[in-house]
Amino acid sequence: TSLKESFKNDFLIGAAISNSQINQTDSLTNTVLIKEFNSITPENDMKWEQIHPQKDTFYFDVADKYVALGQKNNMNIVGHTLVWHSQLAPWMQDVKDSITMAKNIENHINTIVKRYKGKIDTWDVVNEALNEDGSLRTSHFYEVMGDNYIALAFNLAAKADPDAKLVYNDYNLWKPEKRAGVVRLVKKLQEQGIKIDGVGMQAHWSLEGPSIEDIENSIIAYSNLGVKISFTELDVTVLPNPWDLNGAAVEQSYEQFENDPKMNPYPEKLSDSAQTQLAKRYEDIFKLFLKHKDKIDRVTFWGVNDGQSWLNNWPIKGRTNHPLLFDRNYEPKKAYLSVLALKNK
Ligand code: G3I
Repeated sequence: TSLKESFKNDFLIGAAISNSQINQTDSLTNTVLIKEFNSITPENDMKWEQIHPQKDTFYFDVADKYVALGQKNNMNIVGHTLVWHSQLAPWMQDVKDSITMAKNIENHINTIVKRYKGKIDTWDVVNEALNEDGSLRTSHFYEVMGDNYIALAFNLAAKADPDAKLVYNDYNLWKPEKRAGVVRLVKKLQEQGIKIDGVGMQAHWSLEGPSIEDIENSIIAYSNLGVKISFTELDVTVLPNPWDLNGAAVEQSYEQFENDPKMNPYPEKLSDSAQTQLAKRYEDIFKLFLKHKDKIDRVTFWGVNDGQSWLNNWPIKGRTNHPLLFDRNYEPKKAYLSVLALKNK
């Protein structure tokens, strides 16, 4: 059996795939990918700086391969992400007037969404537009256009492919203040008659938090808006958080921890007790997902296996993290078994 088979009547099971996985230079990962998952997200290759590096230059080679891989394997295909202040192409950072910026967003969305019309099923249209307190982030887009850029992006995407599902995607969406911000954002779009189909909760979580209750309250709040919820970037870090140890003073100076063994307690292999903790955490999370399966479209892991995870380098470089269901040797972990056991009793 597999994840995708086990949850086929509940929600899609996805994974973010890296450049080398798209290019199939990593064949073992692709074996696991195809067996276990029925949805894919490109971890980096459709971000603005990658796909639209200059005003008049689009780079579609990798994105085309990505879409072909998904089609060949009958997968749900996610586009990530149309409008995000991070990993934005440098030429866009230089645009300082709203009319030019709107034209550039229009060209960006029309060109990309139309190219993959009927092939890409779901778009992360706007990514990370909110601050932790739920107010709008003063990103480059916001500074130039105010919040108009959000409505513009959704409108353009809906016109370019009326059948694609359109998602607002962000992290820490379990937080009550940020949750209120999402509710305001979605309601405002709806009041303007603009199509939005889903909220994407990124789900970069840890063994300790967020609480199941906070996650559940967000699922219910978003579902009450009439949109579907996707968990778009699920992983569970097992490593110590520098903020917890040293408080706010740490700020951005993570370099000081780079070779600190305290910060990298499982350099070879995750301990048995941590394996058990991770398995329990994933079990609790998936129990919640199953409880609300009528509200949830998709659960996507941010990577296929631990070796691929961005958490090996964030916020401290060079650590050995173990946040996913498959280990570095592509072996299913105890957490994989605990998730499957929920369906195969
Ligand atoms: O490809 C270059 C390589 O040529 C270069 O030698 C190397 C040196 O730094 O960098 C490589 O690019 C890196 C890229 O990942 C591919 O590995 C970038 O530096 C690095 O910044 C980038 O990190 C990605 C990050 O987004 C950027 O913000 C992570 O892989 C990716 O997992 C992460 O994903 C984001 C989601 O898109 C949005 N939500 C949060 C999530 C985690 O941060």
